[in-house]
Order: sequence, then C-alpha cells, then structure tokens
Amino acid sequence: MKKLIGPKKIRTAVFISGKGSNLKNLIRYSKIKTYPFSINLIISNYNKAKGLKYSNIFNIEKKIIKYDKKIKIDNKILKILKKKNIKLICLAGFMKILSKNFIKRFDGKIINIHPSLLPKYKGLNTHYRAIKNREKFAGCTVHYVNSKLDSGKIILQRKVKISKKDNHISLAKKVLKLEHLVYPAAIKIILD
Ligand code: GAR
Repeated sequence: MKKLIGPKKIRTAVFISGKGSNLKNLIRYSKIKTYPFSINLIISNYNKAKGLKYSNIFNIEKKIIKYDKKIKIDNKILKILKKKNIKLICLAGFMKILSKNFIKRFDGKIINIHPSLLPKYKGLNTHYRAIKNREKFAGCTVHYVNSKLDSGKIILQRKVKISKKDNHISLAKKVLKLEHLVYPAAIKIILD
C-alpha cells in the first residue's frame, strides 16, 4: 500500500458482529500518532452486536446492515464506503462472508483477523479443535481477504503455548489478548 506522507491517516472501516474488543483496541491504537489509520466507520450485520456501543463512546458513525439479499447489500455498503472515503476495511469478528464482487471492488484493501495459526483451523471453533487435536501452540493471524475463506496472504501471525490446563475458553482469552497486539501491528506493516 502507498506510503504515508505527513500525518495523514488512512480512513478505515471496521466490520463487526459481536463483542468488538478488537474494534475497541483498534480505535485506541488509531489515536496514537505513529499508527497510520483512523477508524471512521463501524459496520455490523447484527443490530444487537455489543461492539456497536463504541460508536457512541468514541463518536464514530455506525451502520447496521442486515445480510439478506447479498448483491443489494454489497452495493449499499460500497456506496457508504465511497461516501465516507474509506480506504481500508478491517474485519474484526465479522461472521459473514463477503461476496466475490465486493472483495474484487476492494481488492487488497480488506484484512481480517482469525483466531488460529492459519492455514490450520480455518472457519469456526478454532480453539476447541486445536485442543482436541492436542496442538502445542495456538495463535492468531492477520491476512488479506480473498474469495476463499481464511485463505488470503498472511500479513502477520503470532503463537502462544497451549498449556495442559487450557480449555477452549481459557485459550480463547489468551489468543484474544494476543490479537490485540497483532492486529494494530499488522495494519502498521501494510501502511508504513
Ligand atoms: C476474535 O477472536 C476474532 O479473531 C474472531 O472473533 C473474535 C471477535 O472478538 N474472528 C473470527 O473467528 C472470524 N472468523 P471481538 O468481537 O471481541 O473482537
């Protein structure tokens, strides 16, 4: 991605479906001078997503978009993104699959955080499956989004040890903590 000149920040939209701890964390980092992005829009497919509260707390515009008719919705989101001059999309716990058309229109500008050491454990229940398979390590990955699920080029990945005491809940907590370090770092890598 192009180099930043001066203090200009890349206008970013964060897509969520749930709690929004990654969203909150990205907002926090976006306020640091050396992190070259600003969060200007929050999009959720779910009107009860807890993370939507950060819209009020941080005074960031939010849009709730129900994913029923995909093509219509894609066009609606694309219009909103254009109007807000959004240049980067960060998926953060967004549990819907974007259409090929949408990804094409925003090619190379959509990234996602996934709670596993990709290419292992694409999809759901990553921690449960990692423990069941007696993996020694778990972790998280930030990657570009392409039309195949959790398969785009990896930007940054970090691992944590799975201890004997871990279950999928404790492991999820451990990995989420790591995600909060890895996501902003990955954005910095692609924008610097
Ligand atoms: C995070 O662990 C994120 O990696 C995961 O959902 C959680 C969202 O937490 N994403 C996926 O599983 C996407 N396939 P948050 O709402 O607190 O940021």
